[in-house]
Amino acid sequence: MAKPQARYVCQSCGAVTARWQGRCDACGAWNSIVEEREDRLPGAKAAAAPRGRKVALENLSGDNTPPPRIGTGIAELNRVTGGGIVPGSAILVGGDPGIGKSTLLIQAAAALWKEGHRSVYISGEEATAQVRMRAERLGLSKAEVALAAITNVEDILATLGKTDPPSVIIIDSIQTMWTGTVDSAPGTVTQVRASAQAFIRYAKKHGSAVVLVGHVTKDGQIAGPRVVEHMVDAVLFFEGDGAHAFRILRTIKNRFGPTDEIGVFEMTGKGLAEVPNPSALFLTESRDAAPGSAVFAGMEGTRPILVEIQALVAPTAYGTPRRAVVGWDSNRLAMVLAVLEARCGMRFSGQEVYLNVAGGLRLSEPAADLAVAAALISSLSHQPLPRDEVFFGEISLSGGIRPAAMTAARLKEASKLGFRAANLASNTKREDDAPSLTLNRYETLNEFAGKIVGAGTGPTVQMPVEA
Ligand code: TYD
Ligand code: MG
Repeated sequence: MAKPQARYVCQSCGAVTARWQGRCDACGAWNSIVEEREDRLPGAKAAAAPRGRKVALENLSGDNTPPPRIGTGIAELNRVTGGGIVPGSAILVGGDPGIGKSTLLIQAAAALWKEGHRSVYISGEEATAQVRMRAERLGLSKAEVALAAITNVEDILATLGKTDPPSVIIIDSIQTMWTGTVDSAPGTVTQVRASAQAFIRYAKKHGSAVVLVGHVTKDGQIAGPRVVEHMVDAVLFFEGDGAHAFRILRTIKNRFGPTDEIGVFEMTGKGLAEVPNPSALFLTESRDAAPGSAVFAGMEGTRPILVEIQALVAPTAYGTPRRAVVGWDSNRLAMVLAVLEARCGMRFSGQEVYLNVAGGLRLSEPAADLAVAAALISSLSHQPLPRDEVFFGEISLSGGIRPAAMTAARLKEASKLGFRAANLASNTKREDDAPSLTLNRYETLNEFAGKIVGAGTGPTVQMPVEA
């Protein structure tokens, strides 16, 4: 029998090399390459190349009934999956350890039972007693959820059986699973990929939906299972930080729905609670009229969310002033600062700049530029912003302000929450106007800065720099 061939696989990106190396050529990760054996059972012969089977080709304009959906009974989860879980599909749920993935999924399993669907929860990390204890704490011990603590893929598939497949199978987590068809250690890319493949094959064949839980490395990538991201139909990311109770379930990929939706939850003593109106939540943190706070009227997918942006600009004691950002892109902050310096004559070079998105939300929209600029200008000039105004608009390098998409939804949300005015780009379409809001329109950032500082004198606004 031929010796199984060793291959060297990067555990971070899945690239295969013939020799061990300290650094992966494909993704640049250090120390990530591990020896793995070929994916074949010892003794199994390579099959002769099978003859292909002819398949009829179809047209794009065929019968396209929308896929049926399994309503999960959790509205926020339905939202991020695009209206419910599609039978036969595979979903990867990623997130930091301890963020609440297991809690969310055991709650989902119980909610599915209430909706009349059968689900099986396979725990590879906790004993059934632990899962049961958690369910009891969550008040879900009455829910009929089939439970098992197994890590072997063949055992799991045998347990699930062929005749009566459940609607949803939850695998917590994919990194703990191992299959005997591959002879590398659990947690390696080869194992994770082979196990995921086995579950996905089962799901497609029997029409069950499979939810795979994946842990995440510090740099935010789904460790090992990066390779799984390509195999599954949807990737959801559960995020939040330890300091806040908010948890956000974000769609990264979805073959059956939109990808920019978020579901908002709050971690309470009795598990995760849905937050149907997140704006109210993100604004409840006591907002005072101090300089440096601006409310951004943002969009997350189809849903408007108002969130407070806080900036602190303070003279530095060091040669190189610090720039620290939480919840936003630091490159984007550098850009806004550069535009404020170059186009509005504001000096940030001797100042430390701290920027924080309140509530632990992470923003990725360019429309947040204007709210960030407002917070920065307000902090630099010690001028508090009016408490009942929102800001949104993209800033260009030339110092112009560009309109943001979905203005109407943003304005409607702001007006609903009692805001009186919105600051936005001058060429925003008129039909987006909300009658109850005063609209302050600006063509350039300079004009906008002038209004906040109260001078309105154009590009020569020099801020006092305190010693
Ligand atoms: P868990 O679901 O085990 O996280 P993961 O599966 O992503 O690793 O979440 C555990 C955390 O959630 C733990 O730190 C305690 C907290 N928690 C609550 O605050 N309330 C609850 O009702 C439960 C069950 C957990
Ligand atoms: Mg867990």
